[in-house]
Amino acid sequence: MQYRELGGTGLRVSVVAMGCWPISGITSLDVNREASLETIRQAFSGGVNFFDTAWSYGSSEELLAEALGTQRESVVIATKGGLDREQGRQFHDAKPASLKRQCEGSLRRLGTDRVELYYLHARDPAVPVSESAGAIAELISAGKVRGAGASNLTLSELQEFHEVCPLTAIQPAYNMLQRDIERDILPWCRERQIAVCVYWPLLKGLLAGKLPRDHVFPEGDGRRKYPMFQGAEWIRNQDLLDDLRLIAGRAGVALSTLVVAWTVRQPGITTALCGAKRPWQIRESAEAGGCELTREIMDEIAAALQRRGAAVTRAAV
Ligand SMILES: NC(=O)c1ccc[n+]([C@@H]2O[C@H](COP(=O)([O-])OP(=O)(O)OC[C@H]3O[C@@H](n4cnc5c(N)ncnc54)[C@H](OP(=O)(O)O)[C@@H]3O)[C@@H](O)[C@H]2O)c1
Repeated sequence: MQYRELGGTGLRVSVVAMGCWPISGITSLDVNREASLETIRQAFSGGVNFFDTAWSYGSSEELLAEALGTQRESVVIATKGGLDREQGRQFHDAKPASLKRQCEGSLRRLGTDRVELYYLHARDPAVPVSESAGAIAELISAGKVRGAGASNLTLSELQEFHEVCPLTAIQPAYNMLQRDIERDILPWCRERQIAVCVYWPLLKGLLAGKLPRDHVFPEGDGRRKYPMFQGAEWIRNQDLLDDLRLIAGRAGVALSTLVVAWTVRQPGITTALCGAKRPWQIRESAEAGGCELTREIMDEIAAALQRRGAAVTRAAV
């Protein structure tokens, strides 16, 4: 596993982090407690020392605390506030008092007195970004949070945040088919040594290539609403996966390993947050942390993406 510095903190984080959204069971099917605990443990034993969760990810914070136990001291935990859920409905609440309350709640559930990274999960349309950033700056001063993060913000919102509370990390969507941040956000972060921890490296499992062309998403599977899993986009994505499967075969790795390894090789990307609800899934993703793709393989992937053409995508929140 390779490790990189998290912003300017001096902390070293694995290039493959475990994303804890699937184990919340909110949109993933067939989630169970024992498998979730084992997935976290397998991540840790595979060299993953960076775990990404949130106030709004159901019981995942408690599961992390339970699975890690005393190993908590040797990992980096990131959690988030500003998005809340009630009766299955997600809503924004990033008022300063709410962020502080949510952070206290996260610390309690995680069984810790400080997290290494605390993100504003998304902008609250009713609250200026600078006010939410101010609350996180106060959490840092109070010793409850080590570094500040922001997720799902535009470049100008990130600038507004950074002026009030210097950013350690950001968390945007990024994968082979969603590369918008390369235009402006990625160069801005690189100039400031802000870590870029990307979500959806496997595009919610699509790029792992295990969903057959004729797959029908069952009721309750959160993926069915996204354009990349529908119609012409789905067919183009399946064609791309046929190409990538051949390339992965030539590289001698699983397709998901190839995709995650490509992601963390992109300039400016610090870590890929890989969601998993089963141990074998995080093992395949974690393999990418020790996988060196050759120039030839990277060129073949670039040519396959060129043939695929631009994708229609949609943000998470
Ligand atoms: N800040 C934000 O707004 C935001 C938004 C989204 C995500 N995130 C973070 O980023 C993390 C990653 O996003 P994500 O979990 O939504 O998506 P992801 O990592 O792109 O995909 C995860 C899903 O892919 C499937 N999968 C994983 N490994 C696989 C493998 N080896 N083979 C086949 N399928 C595999 C699993 O789905 P199935 O088993 O169900 O098929 C898993 O739930 C999240 O867990 C969360 O921590 C943050």
